[in-house]
Amino acid sequence: MMHSDQLALDKKKIDTILVLDFGSQYTQLIARRIRELDVFSVILPWDISKERIAELSPAGIILSGGPESVTNHNTPRIPEIIFDLEIPILGICYGMQTLAEQFGGQVTASKTKEFGHASISIETASTLFDGFETGSAIDVWMSHGDHVSSLPDQFHLLASTPSAPIAAMAHTEKPIYALQFHPEVTHTKEGNVILENFVFRICNCQAQWKMQNLIEQRILDIKERVGDSKVLLGLSGGVDSSVTAMLLDKAIGKNLICMFVDNGLLRKNEAEEVEQLFREKMDLNLLVVDAKKIFHRHLKGISDPEQKRKVIGRTFIDIFDNESAKLKDDINFLAQGTIYPDVIESSESESKESRVIKSHHNVGGLPDDMKMKLVEPIRDLFKDEVRKMGAELGLPLEMLNRHPFPGPGLGVRILGEITPEKVTTLQNADAIFIEELIKADLYHQVSQAFCAYLPIKSVGVVGDERRYADVIAIRAVETVDFMTATWAKLPYDFLGHVSNRIVNEVEEISRVVYDISSKPPATIEWE
Ligand code: XMP
Repeated sequence: MMHSDQLALDKKKIDTILVLDFGSQYTQLIARRIRELDVFSVILPWDISKERIAELSPAGIILSGGPESVTNHNTPRIPEIIFDLEIPILGICYGMQTLAEQFGGQVTASKTKEFGHASISIETASTLFDGFETGSAIDVWMSHGDHVSSLPDQFHLLASTPSAPIAAMAHTEKPIYALQFHPEVTHTKEGNVILENFVFRICNCQAQWKMQNLIEQRILDIKERVGDSKVLLGLSGGVDSSVTAMLLDKAIGKNLICMFVDNGLLRKNEAEEVEQLFREKMDLNLLVVDAKKIFHRHLKGISDPEQKRKVIGRTFIDIFDNESAKLKDDINFLAQGTIYPDVIESSESESKESRVIKSHHNVGGLPDDMKMKLVEPIRDLFKDEVRKMGAELGLPLEMLNRHPFPGPGLGVRILGEITPEKVTTLQNADAIFIEELIKADLYHQVSQAFCAYLPIKSVGVVGDERRYADVIAIRAVETVDFMTATWAKLPYDFLGHVSNRIVNEVEEISRVVYDISSKPPATIEWE
């Protein structure tokens, strides 16, 4: 018997806030904030179809910001079908401006863009600003060029700032609200209160998106979809595939077969640690494929970065295919740890096929004629939700909060040709750096840290001996989204200590340098 919470988590029955994407950099943040309130939220492009809306049956709609100007023709508008639904609407920034224009108000392009903190003053009491006194001021974050310069007929003013006299407005009869500022960014101090008011008091949503319910519901879903069939999962040791493995394990137990490919490009002791965790501690049905020799054979003589990536990707798929063909069991399903940011249909992706599996994904490009059906139990979760789920499922913290590691592994951290000897050298240097970061409590203060191997000979003296050997570069970056990053200002004493340890303990290295490049113009990885 399922209890009501589980039934409610059926996507058709769970209260949902739909975020229509007009292309803002903050769109994902809006959906995450709603989910942090334990209410389910999805992002879809602004030009959504009637069928898609009917399928979702949302309790409310949020219109995101966007880079365009409603003062130009041919810029996105809210589809009329949205207004026919008679459900609450909240427009943010561009969403407000297009709402105003579509209801007959006026939007004016400003000469100067307003970007940064502003203080809005609450002019009229409303459910959206429940908890704030009329006449009080709230610190908000503005990021706009245009502004609403005259209210549409059926709207009244809710809040204003000196530079945006119409900073918030509401329909006089319908539950339609709009904000010029961004309640979803943390700089808007009480943005969460405004979003809570919209979600719970205006849309009347229930907080049903709870992790424990979600786990139970996913397990039921998997059972229903897979039945008694066998499922194959490529385990990488990363958070996404590990959480996928744990969900499947709870759902189908020994019918899950996990395959971990040791490509000879992993961090020091990684293969052993993954095996120990999944086989011994969790008793997963795990197949470890030692493919070190094959990878190194295929990589011999190759030094071009793109070619290395291609060879690693192709070799992985070959091995995965060969090994799964060897399994005598009939396997009908392939599981993947795809997550929401990989599949969001953003407004820019309209022309592209947005459901493609990223080419750098663990399983690589899947063959067109693949006979196995896909199971992707976390494809609607954000990374922080995957971590939360992992924590609830008992995945060890050190694995949950580990820095990202690229699919091609140390292959893109050894410049030029890869040899097993260079891999060992890099593994040893990298292990020292990471060990010291953890000891100094710096590991979680940076977003990603690692060593890169530079095949450049330089002279050094170690003890009384001259050493003519290669160089290790230390890299540590701070970033939120990995699209841009700044190099971490690690303390000099700490860097000095790491450098000493590497040169003293790793014989093949005579010199250590620190990478002070940010992204852009550099990338995080060296290749
Ligand atoms: P870059 O070097 O492009 O890296 O600044 C951004 C982030 O992506 C990771 N990365 C990869 N991850 N397969 C992956 O799964 C890849 O081929 C790949 N290349 C880069 C990188 O470690 C960083 O976190």
